[in-house]
Amino acid sequence: MLSGLVVALRAKVFEKVNGDNAITVPNDQVGPDRFEELYGHPAANGRSKGAGLSDLFWYWLSPGPEVHQEHLEAGPRYDDVARTTRGFLAGPGDELFDAATRCTRHVLDEVLTGPVTRVRLRDLMMPVWAEYFYELVFGEPCPRAARDLIVAHADDVVTSLKCTGLRHPARRARLTRYLAGRLADVRHPLPRTLSEPEQVHYLQGTYFNTAVVQMSEAMAHLLLALAQHPDVAKRIGDDRYFAHVLDETFRLYPLFGIAHRITTADIQLDEHTTFPAGSVLCFDYPAYHATGYANPDEFDPGRWEHTATRREHHIPFGVATNRPCPAWRLAPIIMRAATREVLRRVTLHSSASHTRSLPNRGPCLLVRDGSVPHRQLTRMRIRDRWEDVWRSVVQLVLGTVMVLHAHRLKPAKRYFDTQGCPARH
Ligand code: HEM
Repeated sequence: MLSGLVVALRAKVFEKVNGDNAITVPNDQVGPDRFEELYGHPAANGRSKGAGLSDLFWYWLSPGPEVHQEHLEAGPRYDDVARTTRGFLAGPGDELFDAATRCTRHVLDEVLTGPVTRVRLRDLMMPVWAEYFYELVFGEPCPRAARDLIVAHADDVVTSLKCTGLRHPARRARLTRYLAGRLADVRHPLPRTLSEPEQVHYLQGTYFNTAVVQMSEAMAHLLLALAQHPDVAKRIGDDRYFAHVLDETFRLYPLFGIAHRITTADIQLDEHTTFPAGSVLCFDYPAYHATGYANPDEFDPGRWEHTATRREHHIPFGVATNRPCPAWRLAPIIMRAATREVLRRVTLHSSASHTRSLPNRGPCLLVRDGSVPHRQLTRMRIRDRWEDVWRSVVQLVLGTVMVLHAHRLKPAKRYFDTQGCPARH
């Protein structure tokens, strides 16, 4: 109850401070049936310039947000960066799968010491993906010191994004310095339109922030859902069924709450619906994913046995015509590998709450002998509910502090003010 109130209050604070006249869809004007049409409109393509909201994202995702692919405006620099990322993430499926299995095994070997191990799933997965993306970038096994730097950085980003902690620029800068010294060892060509310091930020932002954070969150959702649906977990060995479970996890727990775009020209959807240039459009993933389904709040992988995702309201990686996620092929492959490896070694149990934003990081018990730890599950439930109360207050206070700080620093606005012509970027 209190946490719900606090979340609503936090949303209000964000809205007020950012000062954008944001339009969130689906709404009465643009229903779910026209959601993708608006999202995919050629003029719904501004990323950062002209929205107060961008200052907040740049603040959270620094250093170097101006060269993060997701924040670059359309143009040759964006094309160069997007092409580079596609090259990094390509590769034969079995090699990508094997590398993810190896990294998961390595981390589990360290973590699984007793019959029952208590973890937070997001924290469990972070070192796995730190090792994985280090290998992808440098083509060699990840040294422990580098893994610690990557995890410290990615954890700092996601903790501040969820407002459960403040950001620590010095912690992030340690990874920047490390990467600056390793630029010559990167095994793929880097974007030529970026300077060397920008290339360092590109690596840091794409592989050691976005990739590690998103994969850890996605795996936390998947493993938590399996922990709470043992019948589903039992069938996960079947590849087809695994794909349904993943589709359902992505539907119910999309990693993006909202993705925004700034319109670069007027958009006229029909005679009554026009969005002038400069409108901030917010695409609400959970709301869209909840329309068009029977019992949308229920976790039901079986629903995908009778229909295909392309026919439904299902866009976990964004829309194909407007800057979709470049990891749409890679992510399911490596999630299957990591899930197989975890379930080969342990059974999962959790009594914690499972929400889309997952601020509790997915408390879970990893059990090696197949028993059910009833008493520990009772303790987990009580602790999780209590934590939720104080965490909501922390999120409100820290969220407000960071929103105000970002508003004062205005990183995106200052950048665009000094750039003059945005077409150059
Ligand atoms: C299951 C895991 C993931 C999910 C569900 C996911 C989801 C998304 C979504 C929905 C978008 C589009 C948002 C928008 O329209 O603004 C996006 C964009 C992006 N994602 Fe992912 N992502 C995942 C993993 C990754 C990974 C592993 C990488 C690693 C490089 C990555 C890199 C990016 C980038 C660079 C963009 C911006 C694309 C552009 O603007 O051109 N994502 N992601």
